[in-house]
Amino acid sequence: MIADQTLRMAADRRNLLVGAACSPHLIAREPEYVQTLAREFNCLVAENCMKAAYVQPERGRFDFGPADRLVAFAEENRMRVRGHTLVWHNQMPEWMKTAGFSREEALGVMRDHIRGVLAHFKGRVFCWDVVNEALADGGGWRTKSPWFQMIGPDYVEAAFRFAREADPDVLLFYNDYGMDQPGSKADECYRMVRDFLDKGVPIDGVGFQYHLGVENHLDRSACAANVRRFRELGLAVHFTEMDMGIRKPITDELRSQQASEYANRVGIALDAGVSALVFWGFTDKYSWVPSFTKGEYDEPLLFDSSYRPKPAWKAVFDALAS
Ligand code: G3I
Repeated sequence: MIADQTLRMAADRRNLLVGAACSPHLIAREPEYVQTLAREFNCLVAENCMKAAYVQPERGRFDFGPADRLVAFAEENRMRVRGHTLVWHNQMPEWMKTAGFSREEALGVMRDHIRGVLAHFKGRVFCWDVVNEALADGGGWRTKSPWFQMIGPDYVEAAFRFAREADPDVLLFYNDYGMDQPGSKADECYRMVRDFLDKGVPIDGVGFQYHLGVENHLDRSACAANVRRFRELGLAVHFTEMDMGIRKPITDELRSQQASEYANRVGIALDAGVSALVFWGFTDKYSWVPSFTKGEYDEPLLFDSSYRPKPAWKAVFDALAS
């Protein structure tokens, strides 16, 4: 790798954000982690430490320590910060989901959480995944979400309204997986955000996660058209959580296939006018994929576990630099 050839430089030349999910405890302890992150990315997102379980572990007691360290690191290294995430069915503190709140109480809890977090990070976090993964895989709302159960389906639009009240300037995103390719979930999300826009619900963008294994070949023009229709509603689109696990046993051929599939994803983003490309981590040393897939998949990211750039890095760099 040549010093002036980094993803960050290639993205800067295109006026694009290229980001990675990361963790403050790794920034604190691992120099190579720090160097790679600051050298290659102009944007970061907290993999976990801005989620509700961490920032409001007890009702009314906010703990922003780790998240503040992450934001300070970003500022020192001139990186933008994506906020992830305000309202999600996962990584909620116990008190938030088990206190048996009425609808009105739950709306108050949600509003106070959103206000507390947005007030704290005002001006330092440029966009938030206001609601994460509210749609079910099989269609319709994710009815098992505690938020859905406490409030009903309008919790999603309520969250956006609370967020806009709390900060008129920050960009508000809906973020989900499983809509990366044309299909029923993408259609459902499209209808939801179009309805929000019709009703005046404040929303600025949609995040497509892009957690897909290497075997999922994506049709570039169909995926770009799927994404572009959201852009045509006037919304920004970010690819928010890209990774690409390889099913074991892993071979060099599969690593090359991973590289070309990554280039294809960058191509989709560029074709569709996506303004941020965020990877869900950057080194294979730390990824949620092996544990989540019980060891079936590994090596999902752009750098190997010794921080060496992989063929996937080169493919993404070339696609951005082209
Ligand atoms: O904080 C505890 C720690 O105290 C404990 O010692 C340790 C032992 O397992 O667990 C720690 O919590 C883990 C947490 O990550 C922080 O490391 C949880 O067990 C683990 O389940 C949790 O996983 C995170 C997952 O979200 C939770 O659903 C992953 O790191 C994170 O990558 C993943 O990110 C999500 C996005 O937010 C939304 N989209 C999907 C994506 C992948 O699932």
